[in-house]
Amino acid sequence: MITGSGETEPELKPDYSRKSELKAFDDSKAGVKGLVDSGIANIPRIFIHESTTDDKSSSSHHNFSVPIIDFEGINENASLRCKITDEVRDACEKWGFFQVINHGISSSVLDDMINGVRRFHEQDTEVKKEFYTRDELRKVAYNTNFDFYQAPAANWRDSFYCLMAPHPPSPDELPAVCRDVTIDYSNKVMALGLIIFELLSEALGLKSNHLKEMGCAEGLYFIGHYYPACPQPDLTLGLSKHTDSGFITVVVQDQLGGLQVLHEDRWIDVTPLPGALILITNGKFKSVYHRVVAKNAGPRISIACFFRTHLQQESSSRVCGPIKELLSVENPARYRQTTVKDYVSYTYSKGLDGTPRLEHLKLCVTPGKTRGTSAPKINHRPVTRSCT
Ligand code: OGA
Ligand code: NI
Repeated sequence: MITGSGETEPELKPDYSRKSELKAFDDSKAGVKGLVDSGIANIPRIFIHESTTDDKSSSSHHNFSVPIIDFEGINENASLRCKITDEVRDACEKWGFFQVINHGISSSVLDDMINGVRRFHEQDTEVKKEFYTRDELRKVAYNTNFDFYQAPAANWRDSFYCLMAPHPPSPDELPAVCRDVTIDYSNKVMALGLIIFELLSEALGLKSNHLKEMGCAEGLYFIGHYYPACPQPDLTLGLSKHTDSGFITVVVQDQLGGLQVLHEDRWIDVTPLPGALILITNGKFKSVYHRVVAKNAGPRISIACFFRTHLQQESSSRVCGPIKELLSVENPARYRQTTVKDYVSYTYSKGLDGTPRLEHLKLCVTPGKTRGTSAPKINHRPVTRSCT
């Protein structure tokens, strides 16, 4: 450090040492796993969350459990499909979150994927380092926290990212240790996503292909998370409280647990079961807060597949906004339109600061009136239910 005249040291900005600590850690490219492997007993300051004690006091609650929906027979039996659609609607309105069983992706594929992500993170550090980047345009990447420099405190987690749709990387760009399984799993998640978008469209009283036609299934952003065991789990979080930035997210987690969803002001544990998702629709379906606590045990592995495009030029100019068919005088647009590029850039510039990602798109509206020039035109078509 260079000081001024040499008499008095210039006052350090409070952020200064934090910034240099962030940078030193980032430059190591070894991730949180690297810290754990080095045998640290105390977690570095940059990972300490001031508010977790407070946050943690509302710790998990046992009287509630996240809805579990069985997709068995969804394409064979129309009345069963209606029943499932009702369950999906209910879960999305009340929770914004549910677990799916019998979704068509076999347990062996899920296990292979979890093991693939484990292999990525546990491979030789020198090989893994080649993927370490903060360049948001790279389709295949690895780092510690996408919002490392923006977030108020860092999370105890490393992640591996692949933009799998609309334009997947060529296979040789994917890491050799998990190449085939990442391609296979992403294709299967895309197929499941298309079914879920049909159900969601039906649950909203729209034609089955409505959300797909809107482009909701165009992008698929794959993230393989690795949450190493933490020596001081009460001081940090695996993943801060946040809402997701895509249309829906399909998550698979291993058996360790730690994912929690905020329901009626309480954190509810999401008991490990394959498949869970989160989504948004003009406030009709909840975009729910969730987080991952840090634990003494680990590593915990999870894979989150976000249905959204990314910052790439070719797909980021698409405009998204409230579904026009759902708007009426009684239900005016509550959010303004945005391009994917603006939305994703905004999300990345803020990091996971505890504010819902949709907040800055909120319009000031009262039923019966619309304000704000960019609100989509009102349409009087009533919302009909898919099942009668
Ligand atoms: C996410 C997320 C949950 C998990 O990546 O946005 O919420 O269990 N992941 O890792
Ligand atoms: Ni999330």
